[in-house]
Amino acid sequence: MRKIIIAIDGYSACGKSTTAREVARELGYRYIDSGAMYRAVTLYFLDKHVALTNPKEVERALQDIKISFVVNSKGISQTFLNGRNVEKEIRKMKISENVSPVSAIRAVRVAMVEQQRRMGKDRGVVMDGRDIGTVVFPGAELKIFLTADMLVRAFRRQKELLEKGDLVDIDTIVANLKQRDSIDSNREESPLRKADDAEGIDTTHITIDEQVDEVIRLAVARMILQPGKQV
Ligand code: DC
Repeated sequence: MRKIIIAIDGYSACGKSTTAREVARELGYRYIDSGAMYRAVTLYFLDKHVALTNPKEVERALQDIKISFVVNSKGISQTFLNGRNVEKEIRKMKISENVSPVSAIRAVRVAMVEQQRRMGKDRGVVMDGRDIGTVVFPGAELKIFLTADMLVRAFRRQKELLEKGDLVDIDTIVANLKQRDSIDSNREESPLRKADDAEGIDTTHITIDEQVDEVIRLAVARMILQPGKQV
C-alpha cells in the first residue's frame, strides 16, 4: 500500500498526540509531534531570556536551535533540543503558559515548518499540531480535525500532568486551554482552523481506541484509493 501523510490538527488536549502516536505505531509510520517543537523553542527562549519583541534576537536564537526526535527503548518518541532530552521539561505548565506567544512569531513558524516538511518528505508520517493540514502539508492524503468539550479536555490534561508529577488545579488548566485556544485561533500567522477537506472527529464521548480505529479506517481507505499527491 502506498505511504501517505496523515495530518492531525485540533485544539489542545483533544487527544491529538495520543491518537497520532498510536496510529503511527499501528501503521509502522513515523510520529512527529509538531507541538513539541514549539515547546522546545519556548524552553530555549525562556532559558536564554530571548526578548520575543526583538526580531534580531529571535532570529539569532533560532539559528542556534536544533530539534530532533529519538525513539527510546520503550518505543516512545523523545524530543531533543541541541542534543539534550527535554521531553519532560517541555510538558511542564511553565512551558504551556508561554508557548502560544512564541508559536505566534512568524520567524519561529517559518523555521519549524521547514523542518517539519523535511521530516515528512518521504511520507509515511503522522504529524499532529495546529496547521499541519492547512499550511505544513496542504496536500496530505488524510486530514483529521479533533475537537472535544472544554471540561473533558481539561480533565484529560490534568490527568496527564498528574501522571508526570505536576498537580495543577482544574481552573488553572481551563484558563490556560482557553487562552491558548484564543491565541492559536486568532493569531495572524497560520491560525488554527479546520482545513476544508479535513474529517472532523468530536472526541468528547469516545475512547482513545475508538479515535484510533476511526483514523486507521480513514487512512486505509486513502492508501487504497488515492494516488500520491505532491505537497
Ligand atoms: O500540541 P501542544 O499543546 O503540545 O502545542 C503547544 C503549542 O504549540 C500550542 O499551544 C500551539 C503551538 N503549536 C502551533 O502553533 N502549531 C503547531 N503545528 C503545533 C503546536
